[in-house]
Amino acid sequence: DHVRVIPSPQRIKSSMEDVLMDTRRRGGNAAADVVESGMDVGLGTGSTTAWAIAAIGWKLNTGELENVRGVATSLQSHELAKEVDIPLVNLDEITTLDVAIDGADQYNPYAPHVVKGGGASHAREKVIDTAAERLVIATDENKAADPLDHPIPLSVLPESRTVAKQWVMDQGGEPSLRYAETKDGPLFTANGNLILDCDFGNIDEPVERAEALARIPGAQEHGLFVDLVDKIYIGIEDEVETIQL
Ligand code: 5RP
Repeated sequence: DHVRVIPSPQRIKSSMEDVLMDTRRRGGNAAADVVESGMDVGLGTGSTTAWAIAAIGWKLNTGELENVRGVATSLQSHELAKEVDIPLVNLDEITTLDVAIDGADQYNPYAPHVVKGGGASHAREKVIDTAAERLVIATDENKAADPLDHPIPLSVLPESRTVAKQWVMDQGGEPSLRYAETKDGPLFTANGNLILDCDFGNIDEPVERAEALARIPGAQEHGLFVDLVDKIYIGIEDEVETIQL
């Protein structure tokens, strides 16, 4: 399976001084400020939200926050949240969340849309991010684009990959099967699906593109999240910029 490097709490602590200028750390840490006591919080996946998870755990440990419960968007965020002592609730035990903090592979500073799924967790992320009353994206300035043009991950039933590829090409996209980092075979998601990274060039009409991808037979979920983002925390060189959408 595809494994992203997420800093362990120990690594976060020991590298804290070394990475003071790290923009993702800044974005992730700052996004944790949206969490208030008593909230149920969606915990995103990736190297940026790892810092938010660590910050929430830290605040719970110091008493700055109380009665916060997390719902993890992936096994990685589940494990990290456990390590920093954030009480966790299963996704199937909740219907709504107060807020979700998640990362993105690309964001549009002028529109509430993002491309996600670089960590192959976009299906679970979409359920959680949509269930949340507010979605906060933690990111860095290098991921901005208007219009979005990042390839869109599409998870598909393994046996439908050939027809799904054809559907993507018929829609004007170029699909590439995602391989495991070890390159010894295709990457399977936590739910046993394959991922086609679908390059459409400029995504000029994200709502229509999202709807078209969702119609592909055998497609489980895609990583274009439209009309969902409320706020973006962007780590830049020595500060954090926020965009309210
Ligand atoms: C996982 C995701 C991640 O949030 C996205 O890939 C960003 O990760 P990172 O913060 O490590 O760049 O969508 O499916």
